[in-house]
Amino acid sequence: MRKKVFAANWKMHKTRPEAVGFVDELMAAGPWSGEAELIICAPFTALAELAQRMHNTPVKVGAQNFYYEPQGAFTGEVSASMLKDVGCTHVIIGHSERRSLFAEDDGVLHLKLKTALEESLIPIFCVGESLEQRQAGEAEAVVRKQLTAALGELFPRPDQWMIAYEPVWAIGTGVTASPQDAQAMCKFIRSWLAERYGLANAAEIRILYGGSVKPANACELMILPDVDGALIGGASLEPLDFAEIVRRGSLD
Ligand code: 13P
Repeated sequence: MRKKVFAANWKMHKTRPEAVGFVDELMAAGPWSGEAELIICAPFTALAELAQRMHNTPVKVGAQNFYYEPQGAFTGEVSASMLKDVGCTHVIIGHSERRSLFAEDDGVLHLKLKTALEESLIPIFCVGESLEQRQAGEAEAVVRKQLTAALGELFPRPDQWMIAYEPVWAIGTGVTASPQDAQAMCKFIRSWLAERYGLANAAEIRILYGGSVKPANACELMILPDVDGALIGGASLEPLDFAEIVRRGSLD
């Protein structure tokens, strides 16, 4: 049985007081028994305080980015060990906004995955096609290439990483992939994993869906056989919406 994962991606939102207010409300909306995994991926500035606040709770704290070098003259960057130092356990890698707005290519993403794994940070590795690519019938080929190129020779254990399928056309648009499309791609990803890492490993790796997940559609998406959780943007900014997604999405 794969444990469900609900990861909030706050993107560039929330000051420290807003972040703390969120987790206090989230905890009050519990109890969270630990049956599902809850991760808050916050901006760098809020990470230390959030991790302190969430210490000894089932809620984990993740970052949205880092740089793969251990240290050095990289003005503006933050390393994996710095993230661990403030209490992060997870990090998002390969989000489409990083790929398109910050020109992160497969080579950079490979180095980030490699470093995160070496540093025991759990990557939430994002893949997904654009609308044009889907309309051209290239969705699976695009996702396969994203996985192949970023993983390279890496062979992470199933508990060392997770994948998020986020079709670019569903991010922040209010348009969600249909349950059929989400399941079809997550199943495709799992069969790719099985070819590469064997059936037993593929059966354990968590594959999340992301793209306009909200309380109203959490149930129909999270019940899909190859969808093991959600990476949530807009709806994760409101603690009660996030809590409701976790609650509805955890029903089996
Ligand atoms: P939305 O939930 O706002 O569509 O964002 C999805 C996303 O990008 C999560 O990483």
